[in-house]
Amino acid sequence: MYTGKGKVVELILRDGLRHARLTCSENLIPSPGQYLLASDDSDSPLPVPIFYTDSAPQGFIATSPVPDSWNPGREITLRGPLGRGFGLPSSARRVGLASLDGSPSRLHGLIRPALKQNAAVALISDWRLDNLPDDVEVQPLSALFEIIQWADYVAFDAARQNLSELRERLFNGKQAKFPFEAQILVRTPVPCGGFAECGVCAVTVKSGWQMACKEGPVFDWIELR
Ligand code: FES
Repeated sequence: MYTGKGKVVELILRDGLRHARLTCSENLIPSPGQYLLASDDSDSPLPVPIFYTDSAPQGFIATSPVPDSWNPGREITLRGPLGRGFGLPSSARRVGLASLDGSPSRLHGLIRPALKQNAAVALISDWRLDNLPDDVEVQPLSALFEIIQWADYVAFDAARQNLSELRERLFNGKQAKFPFEAQILVRTPVPCGGFAECGVCAVTVKSGWQMACKEGPVFDWIELR
């Protein structure tokens, strides 16, 4: 975990969300699914979590979305990378990226690595999508069940309060099989990033509960209750 300065170079509107192209030192760049806590000198009392969405020269493209107070030239303080990110299996050849309830931006960081290992990629979302590589197949959420039967690795993104809905969508009265590896980025507030052990980010798992800020925000699907 590192602390350092970053700078907003450019603001980008993608998938209906504000993204920021940041420059920062290489050791601060999170892997897909990990996050940084970012703060500026505005009145905002708490740092905001930002996630990697794509690579960029001397930095990366971040979203969560980024705060309204950020403009090109703004200097920010970054702390991280924090948490556990996605682990795309090197053997995966059919990759599904599924966003249940919002922008799939936090899953974007997996697209290039998946294509690089010659995997077919299907992005499942009802969200507005911009600037996807031609090789990515886009499917609506109604196709989720079919895609998970096809995929050998699926990465989900869902808010903590919607995990039950995701489970219902997946099973939907059918005998869903999980022949694939699946992970899920559970979106929760992470006000302290684990430093104060506030517990706000607790996620129920089979063994009790875990803190999404440290033991997530990416969990193996089979870990979740
Ligand atoms: S955000 Fe405080 S313990 Fe996770």
